[in-house]
Amino acid sequence: MGAEPRLTVRLDFASRVISWQQAKGRHHLPWQKTRDAYRIWLSEIMLQQTQVQTVIPYYHRFLARFPTLEALAAAPVESVLEMWAGLGYYARARNLHRCAQAVVNDRAGKFSSDPDDNAGLPGIGRSTAAAISVFAFGRRAAILDGNVKRVLARCFGVARGDSAAHYEREMWALAEALLPENRIEAYAQGMMDLGATVCSRDKPTCDACPLNLLCVACREGRQAELPQRAVRKALPERASSVLLLTDGRRVLLERLPPSGIWGGLLSLPAVVSESADDFARRQGCRILRRSTLAPIRHVFTHFRLTISVLRCDVELVGLVAGEARWEWLPLEDVAAAALPTPIRKLLLSPGLSG
Ligand code: ADE
Repeated sequence: MGAEPRLTVRLDFASRVISWQQAKGRHHLPWQKTRDAYRIWLSEIMLQQTQVQTVIPYYHRFLARFPTLEALAAAPVESVLEMWAGLGYYARARNLHRCAQAVVNDRAGKFSSDPDDNAGLPGIGRSTAAAISVFAFGRRAAILDGNVKRVLARCFGVARGDSAAHYEREMWALAEALLPENRIEAYAQGMMDLGATVCSRDKPTCDACPLNLLCVACREGRQAELPQRAVRKALPERASSVLLLTDGRRVLLERLPPSGIWGGLLSLPAVVSESADDFARRQGCRILRRSTLAPIRHVFTHFRLTISVLRCDVELVGLVAGEARWEWLPLEDVAAAALPTPIRKLLLSPGLSG
């Protein structure tokens, strides 16, 4: 179908979503208790690639550490990354920090109520900008995150076609056309709640859905086929090698430079131009035993990475006046440190301290 549903369908759609949200939607998420744009923005950034249940404890801890936008803007980026450790997609944390500084320095510390003003700030795309305007300011704006897209693609049987840009435009037009005049917060929350609970990707419970009588996918039994998946090109493969130096109590880590995919995080040193022995010597230690661990595989949005890991059990033989980027991290601090997720998993796997 085209992007413009009939007026009767539009009214019916929104009122079904709103009634369902009142009766069956989520009402006790921590960011629903506030109109504070800082808190709402933070929740929306955390929720971009992460599920609600994972986000909740991070959201509380983050706010305890950075209670205001000003506190966040004034903090060093390392402490922001530390509070993000384990949530993944660390570009979000770096953008969050840059965005806080931009709003404090250039916008008198205030987010605008207009989504067009906020879209384009670091980490804020069109959908996140709309969510801030809806939940913090009650403005009428269309949200189109992954959950909402799934509900719309199924309900209106939207085919992906050959052009990704055309599909995006069509979905946005649909999301805009369906917006109700009133009760925008309940509508927006209802669309997200429906997508996250009833209209799930793998097991939609259409019997419980307020849209089932309108829904093309439900009527035609096409829930598994909609939304159609984008055809993905095979991702390029990259490889790297790292050293895991440990004395049984601590592990040697490197603070990565700010740019790059894991920028600002602590990671295992990638040694390219010298032998493990030379590197260990420079760090004031001697290798006692070495073993090759199973390689780590990690998929990024634009490539796949295979990391070979050489574990070196070492003894410290002298103190070096180390550069600030090297850090001997006690093994008990690994869980809470700002490490890339696959590196943290490796360091938390059994056998490191034993
Ligand atoms: N996902 C994105 N934004 C959300 C919100 N405000 N509530 C629940 N899930 C969400």
